[in-house]
Amino acid sequence: MGRIDSLIAEMTLTEKLGQLTMTAADYAVTGPVVTPLSEDAIRSGVIGNLLNLYGAEATRRIQTIAVEQSRLHIPLLLGFDAIHGQRTVFPIPLAETSMFDPAAWEATARMAAQECAGDGLHMTFAPMLDVARDPRWGRIAEGPGEDPFVGSAVARAKIRGFQSSSLADVGAIAACAKHYVAYGAVTAGREYASTDMSEGMLREVYLPPFRAAVEAGVASIMPAFTDLNGVPLTASTFLLRDVLRGELGFDGVLVSDYHAVAELLNHGVASDLAEAAALALKAGVDIDMMSDAYRLGLPVALERDLVAMDDIDAAVRRVLTLKERLDLFQDPYRRGRADTGVTTQSRALARDVGARSLVLLKNDANALPLAARKIALIGPLADAASEMRGPWGGAGRPEDCVGVLQGLTEAGLDVRHAPGVAIETDDLSGVPAALALCADADAIILCLGEALLMSGEAASRAHLGLPGRQRQLADAVFEKAAGKPVIVVLFSGRPLAVPELVSRAGAVLAAWFPGCEAGHAIADVLTGKVSPSGRTPVSWPRAVGQIPIFFGERPSGRPFNPADHFTSHYSDVENTPLFPFGHGLTYGDFSLSNLRVEPGDLLTVKVDVVNHGVRAAEETLFLFLNQKKPGVTRPLLELKGFGKIALTPSGQGTVTFTLPPTAGRAELFVGPSADVRSLLSVPI
Ligand code: NOJ
Repeated sequence: MGRIDSLIAEMTLTEKLGQLTMTAADYAVTGPVVTPLSEDAIRSGVIGNLLNLYGAEATRRIQTIAVEQSRLHIPLLLGFDAIHGQRTVFPIPLAETSMFDPAAWEATARMAAQECAGDGLHMTFAPMLDVARDPRWGRIAEGPGEDPFVGSAVARAKIRGFQSSSLADVGAIAACAKHYVAYGAVTAGREYASTDMSEGMLREVYLPPFRAAVEAGVASIMPAFTDLNGVPLTASTFLLRDVLRGELGFDGVLVSDYHAVAELLNHGVASDLAEAAALALKAGVDIDMMSDAYRLGLPVALERDLVAMDDIDAAVRRVLTLKERLDLFQDPYRRGRADTGVTTQSRALARDVGARSLVLLKNDANALPLAARKIALIGPLADAASEMRGPWGGAGRPEDCVGVLQGLTEAGLDVRHAPGVAIETDDLSGVPAALALCADADAIILCLGEALLMSGEAASRAHLGLPGRQRQLADAVFEKAAGKPVIVVLFSGRPLAVPELVSRAGAVLAAWFPGCEAGHAIADVLTGKVSPSGRTPVSWPRAVGQIPIFFGERPSGRPFNPADHFTSHYSDVENTPLFPFGHGLTYGDFSLSNLRVEPGDLLTVKVDVVNHGVRAAEETLFLFLNQKKPGVTRPLLELKGFGKIALTPSGQGTVTFTLPPTAGRAELFVGPSADVRSLLSVPI
């Protein structure tokens, strides 16, 4: 008998349920129920897995109790939300997605995994793969944006980064793809609300990143809190057992979301904890995070014949197998030998990806790169180093972060700073001092946007304008600017609906939340040391009423025609987004030509690119497909590829994509964004 079988043969019911239980410590607070962590519960095998504890010393101490003082010496599995970095905080995932660079996505995950491993962790609850087309939903910040092709590419890169080539590697940790599935489509963008959609939509848009995660060998998956078409994911035999385990072939560990098993009672599908536990276990959930429903409910469910011991054993086997794959039995202390703080190397990576995540939304009259040296730096986010982490800061420390004021000053600019207003209060008393700086400056930089906790979990917003009195501050600055360029650096965990701000600004840089090297990264782009290359992975609405807004819409029988009233339109706003998917300016000036397709087992699509600008820059191009199928409509554009090319002034090159041939009538489009006016096309 192998180790796992003999352990299972020896385990009491309590010890088995301990392996299916994950309890939170309090190094981070990521959910509502706080039960004090008891070392006795670990010693007696009642708890076999923990979250929200990190650090070499703390994890070793607790692991020692499990390994040396519990009857069966089974090591604990320790998980944590390292969503965009652990000690070194990288840009939020939506920002990182803006790089459209799988190697960079992988590099930050690898660094985070190494830091997690240093902190004694074995698992991160990442990557978050929820496609989101509704910026009211705060968790759009944590994910890959609006498109399934992008979400799938992120899934592959992140899982390679976290898990390395073997989970047994010292610097590797288990990834947990979440939140399976369609959480991003919550009704009206309201957190934890229900979702409802056709199976076609589910399979085409929301499922593909999870399919990619399974194909990439993801070790674990977390079902969403939410219900889909009337069945909570935590209890969905169809979606967990039939689709995920059956059809996609996932054989790893399913970890419930925080308290989600007990919340089946609130969903109204279970009448007590035993029923809730039975529903989740039967659907295939292996670990109950923070509900105590397995520990307390499964013994009762066994008595009532709602579950069988075989169901419990199968889940225990999957959990122990993961511990074995992580090499925990062999050497439970191999991770957590020493905390790693932020290092020179991790900072350099954070600065590089920080700069490449920034999206230059607008740049009129070459307001950027900055020609001026005397800068008035205004706004509540100008000197806000700790806010730069954004939601889910991992174990990142505020004192390790660099704000914009520090970054610009260190870049040698002559900076005068005043916040003007706070992010959320109504106090306008600081505005005159901010305006007073404008007279003496050659350029004005306004740092505006959301506070770090305004996006992320439980952070839905119905209004997507600037919070507090920031709009008034901006308007006063525009009045005062007297022709000087006003550059807005906009921080947010989502696209904001700010058309007036954008139209009055000379330049707008969407900074999202760039992480611990924010100030340096922003200075690099503003000064021209780095040419901006980020592209928005999500459409920016003109108005909240346009939401959900995304490029992959299916055609209307009455497409908008300004000459015909009875066509698809709003009477008070354009149909188009303020900025389409893929939009992002550079300091170069690119043109495309000669789009061509070469046949073969895979189609090869090529396009020539020239940089007519005076600066070196990187262009990003997207390949879209439009298919016509008898009997069923297809999206106007489906993303099938993205690629980048760096060109010096007057430099030219070719970007190549490959894609499988499609049956029937189809057309390919290539261009710098999903704006149809910017695309070249070729029939295939
Ligand atoms: C709840 C969140 O939905 C999930 O993403 C996270 O991993 C857990 N809390 C654990 O913190």
